[in-house]
Amino acid sequence: MAILKVARLGHPVLRMKAQPVPMDQLRTPAVQRLIDDMIDTMHEYDGAGLAGNQVHELAQIAVIEVEANPRYPDAISIPLTVVINPAVIALTDEMEEGWEGCLSVPDMRGMVPRYTAVRLEYHDREGNRQEVDAKDFFARVIQHETDHLNGIVYVDRMRDLRTLSHIAEWNKHWLGIREQND
Ligand code: NI
Repeated sequence: MAILKVARLGHPVLRMKAQPVPMDQLRTPAVQRLIDDMIDTMHEYDGAGLAGNQVHELAQIAVIEVEANPRYPDAISIPLTVVINPAVIALTDEMEEGWEGCLSVPDMRGMVPRYTAVRLEYHDREGNRQEVDAKDFFARVIQHETDHLNGIVYVDRMRDLRTLSHIAEWNKHWLGIREQND
């Protein structure tokens, strides 16, 4: 178990595509240790999720968990989910703006449009196929993390960079404001 170094905006690894994990390698100690280390790293930095790219590993692995998270005080809780080789399908055309942060963009928040409902197909850490239909905040986190695996950072999805805020200013001026318009 180890806390891994998190790549920050500007590191090329965040703009690269992660590769699928071969199913015959998933249960090897090296991959299972990487998953454990990613969980530890997510917990250490109070992230809602962490993707392989963020720890310099171009493997399609993401971990998601939200439980009494001080960075997302209003968020629902999401059980620990280890996502291998995910595919995401939008279940609606409806998109909603909402605040996001990212361990790779420290101390910042921005308003990002996301589909309000998605289906996530993936393998769990044992290699079993899983499928979950998610909405609202869970759907948002899924889209954020799977974007990472495709080399996309949330700022790339923002429609208006004027909401991009340092956390200290965000707490003063934006906290509680969910939507500016529409
Ligand atoms: Ni992120």
